[in-house]
Amino acid sequence: MLDWTDRHCRFFHRLLSRHARLYTEMVTTGALLHGNVPRHLDFDAAEHPVALQLGGSDTAELAHAARLGRQWGYDEINLNCGCPSERVQRGAFGACLMAEPQLVADCVKAMVDAVDIPVTVKHRIGIDRVERYEFVRDFVGTVAEAGCRVFIVHARNAWLQGLSPKENRDVPPLRYELVYQLKREFPQLTIAINGGFTHEDAVRQALAHVDGVMVGREAYHNPWSIAAWDAAFFGEPGPAADRDAVEEAMVAYMERQQALGTGWYGIARHMLGLRNGQPGARRWRQAWSDHRMKDRSAREVWAVARAALAGPALDVQPA
Ligand SMILES: Cc1cc2nc3c(=O)[nH]c(=O)nc-3n(C[C@H](O)[C@H](O)[C@H](O)COP(=O)(O)O)c2cc1C
Repeated sequence: MLDWTDRHCRFFHRLLSRHARLYTEMVTTGALLHGNVPRHLDFDAAEHPVALQLGGSDTAELAHAARLGRQWGYDEINLNCGCPSERVQRGAFGACLMAEPQLVADCVKAMVDAVDIPVTVKHRIGIDRVERYEFVRDFVGTVAEAGCRVFIVHARNAWLQGLSPKENRDVPPLRYELVYQLKREFPQLTIAINGGFTHEDAVRQALAHVDGVMVGREAYHNPWSIAAWDAAFFGEPGPAADRDAVEEAMVAYMERQQALGTGWYGIARHMLGLRNGQPGARRWRQAWSDHRMKDRSAREVWAVARAALAGPALDVQPA
């Protein structure tokens, strides 16, 4: 998720689940051709299994970007065919690619030929007002012929005109049944469903129909909710004993990052939901998002945050 699932966020989430597959933000082929490649692709070994999501629609550029991803050690290359933003539409990729299944197939083929790791596609069930099942069925069928075996389906249409990207994640109705129908029609493919999952029970129900569930906003906003999911879905307890242990591991990580020049502030923002629902959570969050403490060490902020969790906020003086 753009601006959210950067490497620091993924490191944090890996402290909560050993087995969930983590996805990068969408990285455009242009960013990898013209930008700072290590900045876009570097990640921590602890993040595995981790997939690199690409945005693009030029076969040669995507093959090049996929090769870079393989070289960097990613476990999967995923092509974004679900993003509705206008900027992305102008670049002629994202959700508007669903109107061009053969082009997507060519892109997938170019990447499959370029790397020996899985090439997967994330897409919607339709674009604009096309509500027919056959539209998404033909898309998946065409792309599968090019060598894609895994489809992650955000179970709502993308309305390319008139809705913001945020509205496009809420307004078009969710239609899980279409995704289940895809799995029935293509039993040999791996089909994962996405969109609106917030509870273990709903995930369990979906897994009766499809092979996987991708969770976006809930995992970000209520990260502790995923701590129970390794035990629920992967057959072994998750790595985190409790929230304190996760916070402590994040402090150690922030110290390592600080030594490399990355301040704690941009890292801690991803864990602000960790204590949602607990007494003192708000005060704790305020401490970890207090820009006046930006120049302090992560360990010092941690001490303030713990004290804030236990009692009324301390009066913090700028360093
Ligand atoms: C801030 C934000 C950024 C997102 N960026 C991406 C992205 O880069 N690539 C992508 O495939 N989906 C992106 N999405 C969509 C999510 O992956 C997901 O499909 C959508 O939020 C629905 O799932 P959810 O209800 O579990 O959040 C983004 C969502 C949010 C909230």
